Amino acid sequence: MTTKLRPLRFPDNFLWGAATAAHQNEGNNTNNDFWRWEHLPGKIADNTTSGLACDWWDPQRKRAEADFDLAADLGLKTLRLSVEWSRIEPKPGQWDKAAIDRYRAMLHALRQRGITPMVTLHHFTNPWWLAEQGGWLAPGVIGLFYRYTNYVAQKLGDLCNLWCTINEPMVYAYLAYLEGQWSPGVQDFRKAFRVATVMIKAHIAACYAIHQINPQAQVGLAKHTSLFKPFLRNSLARSATRLRNAIFNGHFLEAIYHGKLKPPFSLLPREIPIPASLNDFIGLNYYGQYTIVFNPIAPKTLFGQPIIAPNENMWQEPWPDREIYPAGLYEITERLAMYGKPIYITENGLDDMEDKRRPEFLLTHLAALYRAIQAGLDVRGYYHWTLVDNYEWVEGWTTRFGLIELDPQTQKRTLRPSANLYREIIKANAITPEIVEAYAPEAMEAVFREAGIGD
Ligand code: FCB
Repeated sequence: MTTKLRPLRFPDNFLWGAATAAHQNEGNNTNNDFWRWEHLPGKIADNTTSGLACDWWDPQRKRAEADFDLAADLGLKTLRLSVEWSRIEPKPGQWDKAAIDRYRAMLHALRQRGITPMVTLHHFTNPWWLAEQGGWLAPGVIGLFYRYTNYVAQKLGDLCNLWCTINEPMVYAYLAYLEGQWSPGVQDFRKAFRVATVMIKAHIAACYAIHQINPQAQVGLAKHTSLFKPFLRNSLARSATRLRNAIFNGHFLEAIYHGKLKPPFSLLPREIPIPASLNDFIGLNYYGQYTIVFNPIAPKTLFGQPIIAPNENMWQEPWPDREIYPAGLYEITERLAMYGKPIYITENGLDDMEDKRRPEFLLTHLAALYRAIQAGLDVRGYYHWTLVDNYEWVEGWTTRFGLIELDPQTQKRTLRPSANLYREIIKANAITPEIVEAYAPEAMEAVFREAGIGD
C-alpha cells in the first residue's frame, strides 16, 4: 500500500501551530475568578490548584521563552496564547505596566524565533473585581471589555496581527451559568443565554476596538463546535440533537456572521447590524462528536443527553461521552465555509498521558483537514492543543494534552513521540506514507481514508 500512496501536501504558507491559555500556562494568576474557584473545596477533580502551571510568567526564569525554543525546534510557525485581563487591569481602570512589559517580552520572544503570535483576549478567566460586580452579567461589562481590548490593542498591536476576542463563549456560558461547574457556579438557563448574548455583543465591540487601532489586524474568535448525531435516529433524538446543535453551535455563529440574534424561547431572530468586514476569520476548536438521546429530565443538557456510545473510538475519563471523529473536522469546516471567511483550526487535541492514541489522532485529523483544503475550503492554519501539558480547569492535573510532557512538580519537559511526529509533518509540509509508517503504521489506511484517498 505504502508505495502507491502519495504525500498529502499542505499549502506553502500553511500556519502550523499550537494553542495555549494564560491561566493554564502562566502560573500564579492569583487575581482572577478561576484562581478563587480552584481554591474552594471540592471544585477541582483532583483537588489540585494551578499553582505555577507551566511557570510562564516569571521573567527571570524565562520558562515561556524556553518553551518557545522548543516550539521553534518543532518548526512551529505560530503560537496561540492568551493575555490575562486580571493582570493587565488588576483594578478597574488601573493598568499594570509590568504585565504589559512581560507580554511584550513574550511576543518579542516568539517573533524572534520566527513564530507568529495569535493573541486571545478572553480565555475563560475574569478579573476578581469584575466577578464581584457580577461577571458577564455585570452592568456595563461590554464597555469594560471594550476598554480592556482597546488598551491591549494599543499596547501590543505592533507585535501582533492575529487576534481572537473570546475563547469558546458557549462553553463558558454553559459551564459557568447552566451546568454550574465553573465559577460563578450558576445553574440558570436564562442567565446562561444572557451571558451568551452579552458575549456576542462584547465580541462585536472588541472587533471594532482592534480594527480602529489597527485596520490591518485579523480578528476572529475561537468557537468550540462539536458534531452531534442522534442515537438510533428516532424523531425525539433528532429534535434534541437539532436543538443542541442550534444553541451550542449555531447561535453564536449566526449572530456574529449573519447578524441574526435569537432571544431565548423565540423562533424569530432579531437582526443586528454586522458589517461584512467585522470578522476577518473563524477560529474552530474541534474535539469530536457526541451521540444524543432525548432526555426530558435533563434540562441542563438542553434535553439532548450525550451517551457513551459502544465504540472503541470514545475518549476516556473525564469526557467518556466524546467520540474521536476526525471526519468531523472536514464536515464542520465545510459547514463553516458558508460564513465566507478564512478558517483557522484554533484548537484540536487529545488527552493522552501515554501518547498512545495521539499520533493517530494527529495524523487522521490533519488528513481530514487536508481533504478540506483539497475541496477548496480556505483553511489557513492549525493550532494543536497544546504545546506543553497544562492545568485543565476543573479537571486540574488529571489530563495531559501536551505534545510535550510536563512534570508540574519539577517543571521538567520531555518530548512525546507526537512532538517528533508533528516536527516531521511540519518539516515536510506534508503527511507522507513514510511518516505514518514511522509513527502510527496501524493508522495508514485510516489516514489516507480521512484524506479522501485510497479505497
Ligand atoms: C478547550 C479549551 C482549552 C482546553 C481544551 C482541552 O475547550 O478552550 O482551554 O481546556 O479544551
